[in-house]
Amino acid sequence: MTTSSTQPAQRIGVPREIFPGEKRVATVPDVVEKLIKLGFQVAVQAGAGEAANFSDDAYRAAGAEIIEGAPALWAASDIVFKVRPPSPDEVALMREGATLIDFIWPAQNPDLMQQLAARKATALAIDCLPRTLSRAQKMDALTSMAGVSGYRAVIEAANAFGRYFNGQITAAGKVPPAKVFIAGAGVAGLSAIGTAANLGAIVRANDTRAEVADQVTSLGGEFVKVDYEEEGSGGGGYAKVMSEGFQAAQRAMYAKQAQDADIIITTALIPGKPAPKLITAEMVQSMKPGSVIVDMAAEQGGNCELTVPGEAVVRHGVTIVGYTDLASRLAKQASTLYATNLLRLTEELCKAKDGVAVVNMEDDAIRGLTVVKDGAITWPAPPIAQAPKPPAKPAAPAVAQKKGGHGHGSSGPLPARTLAIIFAVAAVAFWLIGTAAPAAFLSHLTVFVLACFIGYMVVWNVTPALHTPLMSVTNAISSIIAIGALVQIAPPDGAAGGRPDDLIRWLAFAALVLTAVNMFGGFAVTRRMLAMFQK
Ligand code: NAI
Repeated sequence: MTTSSTQPAQRIGVPREIFPGEKRVATVPDVVEKLIKLGFQVAVQAGAGEAANFSDDAYRAAGAEIIEGAPALWAASDIVFKVRPPSPDEVALMREGATLIDFIWPAQNPDLMQQLAARKATALAIDCLPRTLSRAQKMDALTSMAGVSGYRAVIEAANAFGRYFNGQITAAGKVPPAKVFIAGAGVAGLSAIGTAANLGAIVRANDTRAEVADQVTSLGGEFVKVDYEEEGSGGGGYAKVMSEGFQAAQRAMYAKQAQDADIIITTALIPGKPAPKLITAEMVQSMKPGSVIVDMAAEQGGNCELTVPGEAVVRHGVTIVGYTDLASRLAKQASTLYATNLLRLTEELCKAKDGVAVVNMEDDAIRGLTVVKDGAITWPAPPIAQAPKPPAKPAAPAVAQKKGGHGHGSSGPLPARTLAIIFAVAAVAFWLIGTAAPAAFLSHLTVFVLACFIGYMVVWNVTPALHTPLMSVTNAISSIIAIGALVQIAPPDGAAGGRPDDLIRWLAFAALVLTAVNMFGGFAVTRRMLAMFQK
């Protein structure tokens, strides 16, 4: 891929998924239109969307070309969008030097990586997206698929369970609400908690990462703690393998929950490790007959000892669902979300909207995704430098970090000498301004400099996950700027100084315009966020 704007528009090809039982498709008609607006041509293999209820005619109406058969489709594509990792036969169909965007799981598929490299391909693994970058959330297919799967897990549980989820008082008698226990409150677990609570069940959940307790409560669940103090976070929002002591305490708590719960949904995963075994055969035996376990970790070995991956089996009167295709079982929804994630990624790759994708390895998100670049394996990506955490004790300002830092550690603040020079220069500048400028100006300048300093300290120490709430705060601050600007444009009667001169008025006007953009933008984003929670 080159950055040349004279390059002809590239063709994005979407083959039919060949993995047995896979119903999803990598793009949907609505998204085809948007890809075409970005300047790309789009080709879809005949029947690719059939299992997800998207007809060839719908793709055609959206502007896609329908190509019969996989060989012709792969041969015609500069960029291939897929869902499942390609088979060796599919890689063999790939045009030399073409780009592949899909789930690749490079750690689990070293042979596939070699095959892609041999085709001189460029491969973007959507599963390798650096998820903690707030900017990357719109492309996060792992999150959207986990959300769909969590929802579907509850539906599968309801299907296998012989009772209502909600409690009812009817003429025929009282029906108690179902009790649902969720193990692991990550993206899938939270989705399952929300869905089960909405159906009226009593929902309890546990996770080794204590920080998810508030999220569980906000979705209508109750967080059940393990009676053992241990930090469960392994970094990047993921879990770690817990100590023997913790595991024993957790088993005791899970054994109690198993006796009480009607439905258990397990979602516990630790990156790069087999799924922790949380539900033992004895716990299954202790459950009431007719109870249901949905093991969402089945593909990674399962959280329940008796799970059979890909199947629903009955053991000790308990139905254990080990389906590994939960997202595919909601194919239309999953395809639409996945297609939107890939569209957002394509927008990042084609900022010029000229139908030519540019893989910019300087961009942290794109670098993380790119596992093969022009035939060279580029996985794993180097870790992304995180925003510095708030200092434990008040320390010198954490101004820009110096590469290869001297003095007291490379990640610390600037060396004392540099800081002293900066402060000396600033003091001299202040003194000069103080002697030349009017007193009022100096006091305003002091407030301005302090505001910049405090703003810098506040914003730079905020973790990326909190950027959205931070935006709301900045909008509130913008309102204050608006009041200041209004006072400058039209000072109240009798205000000191009389009519402001034109320069101040224009500056105030500019401040109002910029503030208005921030305020209205903030409201628009907030509205969109609220809309996501509206039924
Ligand atoms: P996952 O699928 O790897 O794990 C699922 C859940 O299982 C996790 O919450 C984990 O803590 C839990 N777990 C692991 N071992 C356990 C055990 N022995 N007992 C009980 N629970 C156990 O994780 P997922 O759902 O993909 O993401 C996890 C977290 O990553 C999210 O909750 C979020 O905090 C973070 N994340 C952050 C994003 C962002 O900042 N933009 C985007 C996506 C995820």
